[in-house]
Amino acid sequence: MAINIIAAIGKNNELGKNNDLIWRISEDLKFFAKKTMGHDIIMGRKTFESLPNLLKGRRHIILTRNPTIMPEVIVCDSIEEIVDRYKRKEAYVIGGASIYAQFLEYAKKMYLTEIDAECKDADVFFPQFNEEEFIKTILDEKYDNKLDLNYKHVLYKRR
Ligand SMILES: NC(=O)c1ccc[n+]([C@@H]2O[C@H](COP(=O)([O-])OP(=O)(O)OC[C@H]3O[C@@H](n4cnc5c(N)ncnc54)[C@H](OP(=O)(O)O)[C@@H]3O)[C@@H](O)[C@H]2O)c1
Repeated sequence: MAINIIAAIGKNNELGKNNDLIWRISEDLKFFAKKTMGHDIIMGRKTFESLPNLLKGRRHIILTRNPTIMPEVIVCDSIEEIVDRYKRKEAYVIGGASIYAQFLEYAKKMYLTEIDAECKDADVFFPQFNEEEFIKTILDEKYDNKLDLNYKHVLYKRR
């Protein structure tokens, strides 16, 4: 199984509000691009609709219960089918909340950008998980001048 999760979360696991991201940290967006480049990326229909454009160099797999043909992406209505397809091939689950919750049990690695900030009106959250099931490595600790906040990249590798 080679399904990985990648997400940026606030202190209370905040993920987004009004179907958009809460924080846009340019260095973190570069980290996201570097990690996911060349891989298939799996996302929910709402996250797909929130993207400004297709992400270059990555095949988009969109989960929806109302599959229709969409140009330039692969549409899928079953988590099981995806889990089966990526038993040996690496892919990144890129959100949103409902998709993280369903794939968490299958994730081999999770790259979480842990942002030292809160958002009172967040409306979607990363699911709670048991840290003991993972080996935690802090990859780096950074400061964003523009947003004046600290954040770190953390890798959770399933034991
Ligand atoms: N901070 C981050 O790293 C990050 C990353 C990604 C997204 N986000 C944020 O997360 C929010 C969106 O998350 P969300 O939970 O509201 O929506 P979502 O997970 O992106 O999409 C939900 C949709 O996915 C489809 N879906 C879910 N489970 C399915 C299943 N088992 N089978 C088939 N289709 C399935 C359904 O589409 P249909 O309704 O079409 O059936 C459902 O409405 C936004 O605010 C976004 O900005 C944050």
